Amino acid sequence: MRRVALLGATGSIGRQAIEIVAARPELELCALQSGSTPLDALAAAHGVDHAQVGGDPIALLERAEPDVVLNAVVGFAGVQTTLWALEHGVTLALANKESLVAAGELAVRAWRRGGGLLLPVDSEHSALWQCLEGRAPETVAGLVLTASGGPFRGKARAELADVTASDALSHPTWSMGPKITVDSATLANKGLELIEARWLFDVPYERIEVVVHPTSVVHALVRLRDGALLAHLGLPDMRVPISFALTHPERATTPVPQLDLIGLDLAFEAPDTDVFPLLGLARAAAEHGGTAPCAYNAANEVAVAAFLEGRIGFLDIPVIVEETLSRVDGAVARDLADLVAADAEARRLAARGLQPA
Ligand SMILES: NC(=O)c1ccc[n+]([C@@H]2O[C@H](COP(=O)([O-])OP(=O)(O)OC[C@H]3O[C@@H](n4cnc5c(N)ncnc54)[C@H](OP(=O)(O)O)[C@@H]3O)[C@@H](O)[C@H]2O)c1
Repeated sequence: MRRVALLGATGSIGRQAIEIVAARPELELCALQSGSTPLDALAAAHGVDHAQVGGDPIALLERAEPDVVLNAVVGFAGVQTTLWALEHGVTLALANKESLVAAGELAVRAWRRGGGLLLPVDSEHSALWQCLEGRAPETVAGLVLTASGGPFRGKARAELADVTASDALSHPTWSMGPKITVDSATLANKGLELIEARWLFDVPYERIEVVVHPTSVVHALVRLRDGALLAHLGLPDMRVPISFALTHPERATTPVPQLDLIGLDLAFEAPDTDVFPLLGLARAAAEHGGTAPCAYNAANEVAVAAFLEGRIGFLDIPVIVEETLSRVDGAVARDLADLVAADAEARRLAARGLQPA
């Protein structure tokens, strides 16, 4: 029996994870957490003793003693849990990419000390992990992340000036929570994933490519040094990577149908980094290192929340992130307190950018 603590239980990933756990006799939920949504009914329905709305996630995890922590919280709010699980060698199934983006170096050091497993839930990274499994690092020439391109693929800048939150939330291929859906529309999501991939797989940024693949059937590819490419294909359905992380190294059955190969559209194109500058800004923050990725993430969170509330336009999101990045020092964080301070400072600067001039 594998005891799963599910943080972010009421979200898009959280709900799909509950479906996967409920269908597997070898999995059991031992803890649930949400940000503000009540959990009483959910906890009662699944016989979970440790359920908590908000509050300290570490106290919850210490009480529940899980075998696996599934971190499906959205945003920097997930950082403490990621660091705790890695430090304590508790298997971490990670959907909360923002924590690895913000805390990269601290997280990798905690992971080494803790010696546990870090299993990606993000579909592209789950795909990369599977293509890389058992392969000698020197045989890997590079990683390729695929992006759907989001609802605004192919649009000119001028066409994006007046798009609304509801336009941005109509994702063509994936059904996800609101923050990541907007991140997919701006390509910030691929920027976050670039940084996530670097820390998960220890591959330098210059060997991680991003390509647009509108049907989202190929989740990622690995380039090998002999010229071969390994691809991971499947329907765009998060229940597959969630199930793989929770049942690893087994591959349990899921309710997801098999992909029909006949007539499959496998087209790829280059991302438009002029219209969607957040991908290039992520690469620049990544290459700067230190707390620049943390600041990128914090400013993006502030800007996306403001866009979802209708306070700023779609094209203002990268402007706020760029201005914030130009004002932070990006110094290295020695510990979580430094990181929390860098996150808070970037949020303060980004919020200033929301004020009317
Ligand atoms: N959705 C996807 O298909 C997908 C795919 C790949 C990766 N991811 C990643 O998975 C994570 C979750 O995404 P999502 O789409 O599932 O988001 P979501 O639907 O917005 O759900 C977010 C979850 O986090 C909880 N939460 C928010 N703030 C919190 C806080 N301060 N403390 C504790 N819990 C908090 C929410 O609780 P409340 O209900 O109380 O607000 C909710 O349960 C993100 O990092 C995202 O990038 C998602």
